[in-house]
Amino acid sequence: MNEWFERESRVFIQFFNRYPVLIEHGKGCWLYDSDGNRYLDLIAGIACISVGHGNEYVNSRIREQLDRLVHVSNLFYTKPQIELAEKLRELTGLERFFFTNSGTESVEGALKIARRTTGKKKFVSFVNDFHGRTMGALSVTWKEKFREPFEPLIRPVEFAEYNSTESLENSVDRETSAVIIELIQGEAGVFPAEREFVKRIFELRDEFEFLVIFDEIQTGFGRAGEWFAKDIYGFQPDIITLAKSMGNGFPAGAIGISEDVHRGVERGDHGSTFGGNPLACTASLATIEYIEKENLVENSRRMGERFRKGLEKMDFVKEVRGSGLMLGVTVDDAKKMQEYLMENGVLVNATSEKDIRIIPPLTISPEEVDIALAVMEGWKSKVV
Ligand SMILES: Cc1ncc(COP(=O)(O)O)c(C=O)c1O
Repeated sequence: MNEWFERESRVFIQFFNRYPVLIEHGKGCWLYDSDGNRYLDLIAGIACISVGHGNEYVNSRIREQLDRLVHVSNLFYTKPQIELAEKLRELTGLERFFFTNSGTESVEGALKIARRTTGKKKFVSFVNDFHGRTMGALSVTWKEKFREPFEPLIRPVEFAEYNSTESLENSVDRETSAVIIELIQGEAGVFPAEREFVKRIFELRDEFEFLVIFDEIQTGFGRAGEWFAKDIYGFQPDIITLAKSMGNGFPAGAIGISEDVHRGVERGDHGSTFGGNPLACTASLATIEYIEKENLVENSRRMGERFRKGLEKMDFVKEVRGSGLMLGVTVDDAKKMQEYLMENGVLVNATSEKDIRIIPPLTISPEEVDIALAVMEGWKSKVV
């Protein structure tokens, strides 16, 4: 066994199943391990590295900020924080922001804001939704294996069937504080919501006066081929949760809310020591600027289509779902295919026995997509 794997096994709380690879550095869409192997990275730190590993523009902005100021807390005003909030307002159309350090924290804050501003307690989430691992976010996360050992969690929570308007109608009522949804379920293996279903959520919102929270932690910042998945659907939530690729791997997240929701919030309702620190905000601003400058939202769309076309030609591929560079692919044996691809220098993530997820940096080039497709094609010879 690699000496480092052994050291990890002695000192780490054993929560993770890791791939047997020690990554040492990365550049663009490529990762390099301690044995000198290189891999085309179609995982991107679980949909976080949007503008590529070692992005010189983002890194130089981080370095500059590092020397100027790292942290002062929210007791003070800092420029990068205000600039980032203004930028997010322009991009999302939501009006007020709070910064966090991770996705699950964004969801925690969103749930608190919903309860505070509606005065109601109940949350409705969906079968196969994933919203995070802290107690509040976990309460609205579907997988029972994650939730059950930690009960009692927040309640009442109801899980409606995804894309079933009947199940949705049976779950929401006057006690509902918020409906939280992933417009494209990521961790579950990339399953998009249907537009009619999302429309029904908004009709019911008007009837029962709950808030709609879009969890765009995975879909945000160009991943799904638009700046946000909500732009594909054409609906505006009351609250949006963001994180993952916001800082290109630098821990950063945000909650965005409408002015209407903001009227129900009071000073002191929520807080964070590190959230919105100048370094994380600068990393996020630089990442967003790079996405804009290099037209990476469009590249996400174009490269996603290239992947889709190539994959659909492979006879062992049973289904391709998703949009932009957020694709779920149903195959015969996802775990074995993932191992085969890794041995041949391509990293993908198996989300189930039958599904792999493709979520590379948005900077991926046509040549790199074709390299990935050629290696995947080789899997065919392994399929009996
Ligand atoms: C949609 C969604 N929400 C929330 C989270 C939790 O984010 P984090 O792992 O940063 O806490 C994730 C992470 O995979 C996610 O995909």
